[in-house]
Amino acid sequence: MSRRILITGGARRLGKTLTEHYLEQGWQVVAHYNTRNELAPHPSLRVIQGNLGDNADTIRLCVELAKEEPFDVVIHNASCFATDSSAGFTPAEQAAHINKHLNVHVTAPMLITQALTNHWREDASMIVISDIYVEIPNERFAAYCASKAALHNWGLSMAQRLAGKVRVNMLQPGPIQFLPDHDEAYRQQVLSQSLIRRELGYGSIVKACDYLIDNDAITGSAMRVDGGRFVANRYDQTFSL
Ligand SMILES: NC(=O)c1ccc[n+]([C@@H]2O[C@H](COP(=O)([O-])OP(=O)(O)OC[C@H]3O[C@@H](n4cnc5c(N)ncnc54)[C@H](OP(=O)(O)O)[C@@H]3O)[C@@H](O)[C@H]2O)c1
Repeated sequence: MSRRILITGGARRLGKTLTEHYLEQGWQVVAHYNTRNELAPHPSLRVIQGNLGDNADTIRLCVELAKEEPFDVVIHNASCFATDSSAGFTPAEQAAHINKHLNVHVTAPMLITQALTNHWREDASMIVISDIYVEIPNERFAAYCASKAALHNWGLSMAQRLAGKVRVNMLQPGPIQFLPDHDEAYRQQVLSQSLIRRELGYGSIVKACDYLIDNDAITGSAMRVDGGRFVANRYDQTFSL
């Protein structure tokens, strides 16, 4: 019996790479997307659309997912990444900016996981993709960081709640793959702040997911896949005596 996986944001960038990887491994994949599906059709692939920034649409999506056969693995990967300065300045614009991040990163994983309560196979696992920035402040991306921190903490609670049924682990990427609008100067600056000074590529996350899925001793843990950026020396530590 082939294994089954649900991947949110599974139709482009990292999500697409994960979807293609598990299809190659013979899995049945349900790949969620919002605006862009870049996946080629495949007999073992079902794509399903939903705007996780809109709670009503997430609830509609949950009704669809509850009709699915049980899953072996769910990867909460969908993400919203916008600077706070792009939010506008009125209270309504600020609220929309914050709510969108919270809806995508927190409310949607919560609702989807709730909808799948009776849709897990034996030895199932869930991976929550958060960020090393759950533990690092960033004044330009405060809504992103705060909502990812909430996602990360929620995942730890799920490890408790779903114990014995689903193993739940958090995966914290660092600078894995830059966005197309990141210029060369920005890329070099970010990479100079890590220990493995190269863009790591999606393959490093795929390997980490395989490990977390296959190792039945691991739950409630967080794995950084960040090229050592979290522990890189962020401060001048030259002390004079
Ligand atoms: N790339 C990195 O270096 C890096 C670093 C740290 C953390 N991460 C984390 O790793 C994961 C994957 O990274 P990535 O670079 O592939 O992410 P990304 O380019 O930001 O992709 C985001 C995905 O989320 C979906 N998404 C965005 N808004 C959505 C919405 N309102 N409703 C539903 N889906 C929505 C997108 O779907 P559509 O395109 O269909 O709209 C897309 O598939 C994310 O969780 C990200 O936060 C990545």
